[in-house]
Amino acid sequence: MLTDKIAVVTGASRGIGREIARTLAAKGATVIVNYNGSAAKAEEVVEEIQKDGGKAEAVQCNVSDFEKASELMAYVVKQYGRIDILVNNAGITRDNLLMKMSEEDYDAVLNTNLKGAFNCIRHVARQMLKQKSGRIINISSVSGVLGNAGQVNYSASKAGLIGITKSVAREMASRGITCNAIAPGFIDTEMTQVLSDQVKTAILDQIPLKHFGSTKDIANTAAFLASDDAGYITGQVISVDGGMAM
Ligand SMILES: NC(=O)c1ccc[n+]([C@@H]2O[C@H](COP(=O)([O-])OP(=O)(O)OC[C@H]3O[C@@H](n4cnc5c(N)ncnc54)[C@H](OP(=O)(O)O)[C@@H]3O)[C@@H](O)[C@H]2O)c1
Repeated sequence: MLTDKIAVVTGASRGIGREIARTLAAKGATVIVNYNGSAAKAEEVVEEIQKDGGKAEAVQCNVSDFEKASELMAYVVKQYGRIDILVNNAGITRDNLLMKMSEEDYDAVLNTNLKGAFNCIRHVARQMLKQKSGRIINISSVSGVLGNAGQVNYSASKAGLIGITKSVAREMASRGITCNAIAPGFIDTEMTQVLSDQVKTAILDQIPLKHFGSTKDIANTAAFLASDDAGYITGQVISVDGGMAM
């Protein structure tokens, strides 16, 4: 159980983040449902959690903005007194073949997926060091492990997250803080619903378990990594991908 834990989940207005927020709340955590533009959807997530008897609050923050990320963490500490769990889930794609990829699309993906996670970790670290405890969970991707044609920017950001994960894990282990990454394969969310049937069939061919994952598959792994049961696990990349990256 995660009773009395305070959790921040970035990009929790839909998809994987929403399910992680709901799962952590169901286990007793108070969850900060972060979003950037989708206020109404974030409020819906909060209502769902409250209807199930859980505690949550929606807080807007563009995680790619260093100062705004600082304000987000300061607000949570002021309001709740501590931060036990940070899930860096906010992410975007701007897919294109290398020769067609614009500088803008490269920067946008790196700024949200990689710098966004750095910003949040950077600003949560002081509080977790003070507490001498904390769980940081970064949502990477199979694309960061294997690479993926058409996703040079996205793969770079997700591989970068693995580097951040291992470095933070080493740096903060002696202070009771763990940092792990989850590398989802293809999960059924708005992010993957835009793929053509042809692309989806090609992807299914590469998945030994022969189906896309669900948001629940990722949320359950995040809840485990946030729990006391995972206290001796740090610096790891857990693939939840139907066997794609074995
Ligand atoms: N779906 C997959 O197959 C898959 C596979 C591997 C990894 N992942 C990773 O899992 C994470 C979630 O993916 P998903 O499929 O659930 O995506 P999604 O449905 O597109 O949701 C993305 C979430 O991120 C938020 N977000 C985007 N930019 C943000 C910013 N600058 N600041 C704060 N929040 C921001 C969005 O909120 P707003 O709408 O409010 O902007 C939204 O809540 C991402 O990191 C993604 O790369 C997904």
